[in-house]
Amino acid sequence: MQTVRSLTDDAVARFADCSDPRLRRIMESLVRHLHDFAREVELTPDEWMAGIKFLTAAGHKSDALRQEVILLSDTLGLSSMVDAINNATPGGATESSVLGPFFTDDAPDIAHDQSIASPGKGKPLLVCGTVRDTHGKPIGDAVIDVWENDESGLYDTQYADRSEPDCRGRLRTAADGSFRFKAVLPTSYSIPADGPVGIMMSLSARHTYRPGHLHFKIAARGYRPLTTAIFVKGDPYLETDAVFGVKPSLISEFPRHESAEDAKRYTMTAPFHTLERDFVLAPA
Ligand code: BEZ
Ligand code: FE
Repeated sequence: MQTVRSLTDDAVARFADCSDPRLRRIMESLVRHLHDFAREVELTPDEWMAGIKFLTAAGHKSDALRQEVILLSDTLGLSSMVDAINNATPGGATESSVLGPFFTDDAPDIAHDQSIASPGKGKPLLVCGTVRDTHGKPIGDAVIDVWENDESGLYDTQYADRSEPDCRGRLRTAADGSFRFKAVLPTSYSIPADGPVGIMMSLSARHTYRPGHLHFKIAARGYRPLTTAIFVKGDPYLETDAVFGVKPSLISEFPRHESAEDAKRYTMTAPFHTLERDFVLAPA
């Protein structure tokens, strides 16, 4: 006779002939945890069906630009857990953060001092810093991808009439590891909430906001690629980021400058904000 315990053992044993040891380990563990979960909450058939419908709806909502299943993983903290397990940062390398669903590979190449944002996208921001290795040696020719939302809280891919990339760009560090570009001051924004994940968040009395941040993906030959984000100090959502991406080391000041003196020093037009931030890459 099948008991709930022997059912679990039986389901786990069905993977015994799997020739890929990693796949076997993952599937056996997944089955054990799923069964434990159902037993722990005494899952009813209606609740199980609601879960099946929810996952089906998340799949239907997804396409090349809308990644509802990734969003689900993000809002359950799973994406950040996988990031934490796989991206320990040795020797003071910059910590990583979630990629999120808004990275695209069509960002235009920009020269130093150019802006990644078209006019009217937000408060002017100058970003500058240096990319180094864990010994402090500058890394020249590192490729930096940067992307952000505009001051309406939207990424370019969220506009139905997107005809070209905006608020995103790709640049290379100079021989001394330095980079410098213009952008807009990041603002807090809601993750896409018009799908099943939004319903789950609302039924769970959770807000859907991320603190203002600028995304960076940095790659250089001989170094581990870095995907991270820099968050605006003082943002009200730093403690309760909807997708658990904030790490204290990734919070920076984005000071506002109003004086003519600062405008001259930074070759900007006042008022403007700055982010001065270095990145450290771990060896490959
Ligand atoms: C983002 O920061 O772009 C993001 C990350 C995870 C989910 C939604 C948005
Ligand atoms: Fe973002």
